[in-house]
Amino acid sequence: MSQYHIPVMLKECIQTLNIDPTQTYVDATFGRGGHSQEILKQLTTGRLIVIDQDLDAIAEAKKLALKHSNLIVVHDNYSSLKNILTDLNIPCVAGILVDCGVSSVQLDEGERGFSYRFDAPLDMRMNQTQKLNAYDIVNTAPAGELLRILYTYGEEKHAKMIVRGIMRAREQQPIETTLQLVDVIKSSLPNKILKQVGHPAKQTFQAIRIAVNQELEHLESFLTQATDVLCPKGVLVTLTFHSLEDRLVKQHFKSLSTPPKTNKRLPESHVQLEYTTLTKQPMIADEQELMDNPRSKSAKLRAIQRL
Ligand SMILES: C[S@@+](CC[C@H](N)C(=O)[O-])C[C@H]1O[C@@H](n2cnc3c(N)ncnc32)[C@H](O)[C@@H]1O
Repeated sequence: MSQYHIPVMLKECIQTLNIDPTQTYVDATFGRGGHSQEILKQLTTGRLIVIDQDLDAIAEAKKLALKHSNLIVVHDNYSSLKNILTDLNIPCVAGILVDCGVSSVQLDEGERGFSYRFDAPLDMRMNQTQKLNAYDIVNTAPAGELLRILYTYGEEKHAKMIVRGIMRAREQQPIETTLQLVDVIKSSLPNKILKQVGHPAKQTFQAIRIAVNQELEHLESFLTQATDVLCPKGVLVTLTFHSLEDRLVKQHFKSLSTPPKTNKRLPESHVQLEYTTLTKQPMIADEQELMDNPRSKSAKLRAIQRL
């Protein structure tokens, strides 16, 4: 079992956060603390609040907190950001980092059921205390709902064939494990498609994982809260790994940093914008990182600053 997660675009994240050593920061996705440890190195009297919904990540964070009295560890969903800060009596923060999605540790821990490469019960919950898991979705969601999940969250072109296969299989018996699901997917698709590059279960697994963890709903809610809780000059840095996440970030940043369209015949209104984007185009990993860490290939870094 690997416990290793290489932090993606570490130097770019830290540079963009432009850390003031005396202020308060949030790492909303602690993972294995790759980014957090770098933020901690820069702080003197400042504090770092770390959030993760995964209990294993929180156990690691608590170990790190033994060495850093300015590290506050919170087991929660990042979509509770405002409540978390209110409970801690913190009115605003100087910087927030969110590194979306699953960690390579979660993917590599076969028993968590995230990976189509290891056999495990269909689980895929990032938060082990949550009730809904992948088994429930695969075995009980109506066909129409499964289709929506595969099309929208997996952008799976062959969703219809796969859903038909799942419905047929689960009429016989429940689909219990990851490799059973992989077999169902493979037997739903013609050879011509199976021979194409990429694993035939990749998009379906991504889609089900996003549905189980309600990733897009939580991200959307988090983004609004995160920009609200920035102090003046505060920065929010986001790392996304697929177009669905990136689109949410891009739209939210655009809505805050572009003036509303005015009627040309009326005198120009001078709306004072409260935010400015720091990345007109998303930043991507440099060549060295792309070679060293395959996970960085799909990473996009965007940042916004409160004025
Ligand atoms: C890509 S990893 C972060 C890796 C981390 N930056 C590092 O360098 O070790 C994403 C982490 O965010 C957590 N996570 C994902 N969505 C979350 C959410 N909505 N609320 C809280 N934690 C979340 C996952 O459990 C996972 O541990």
